[in-house]
Amino acid sequence: MIDIHAHVLPFVDDGSPDVASSLKLIEESISAGVTDLFLTPHYMKIRNYLSDHAHNLEIFESFSRAVEEAGFPIRLHLGTEIYYTVSTPKDLRSKTVVPLGKSNKVLLEFSLSVEDEDIGEAIHNMKSMGYIPIIAHPERYRYLRWGDFEIIKRMGGMIQINASSIIGYNGAEIEKTAMKLIKTGQADFVASDIHVFRPNHLSQAYRVVEKKCGKAEAERIFANPSVLS
Ligand SMILES: [Fe+2]
Repeated sequence: MIDIHAHVLPFVDDGSPDVASSLKLIEESISAGVTDLFLTPHYMKIRNYLSDHAHNLEIFESFSRAVEEAGFPIRLHLGTEIYYTVSTPKDLRSKTVVPLGKSNKVLLEFSLSVEDEDIGEAIHNMKSMGYIPIIAHPERYRYLRWGDFEIIKRMGGMIQINASSIIGYNGAEIEKTAMKLIKTGQADFVASDIHVFRPNHLSQAYRVVEKKCGKAEAERIFANPSVLS
């Protein structure tokens, strides 16, 4: 599996408070079958998560050594979960925030409850800068209607569903939306979005999708390799 969204990097957001907790999250990822894990710390001004890429990279390098020394069979990549604001284009230019690994794909998050930034405009801005935007867990954005998902896709945005949504952890409504996005072929990725307080639901979610949509579809969205280059 390729997990493109995880709060495993220690010290920088609400993901993990120390190296030992982060190593535990790595072990859980490996048990779930993850071979490539993207560490995507929040960059979110409204919650005061302001660790920039230079700082994240420093921690990433020492943490990667700890993972290697522990002998864990997993490849780590660095990115950012960018809470989209009008400053995001500027933050990308200054490398305060970065795309996923070596790809040109940016992981964008929006408010869960209020549409305070226009997702269509964000997609347009990112594409005009040469990036492909991946919208993080849109099934959780309560203000989106079905037509809005179609607009995201038509504009060239990609969709990442949270594994927890598929298994009903976020409620029946969100589960329904997540499964509809998958069944209609609109989902591009399923990711864990793990924090120390949120279990890794990837293997459970994989089984649900495999049972309802078949192994090929499960592989397509749980191991989408398009972020690896
Ligand atoms: Fe996240």
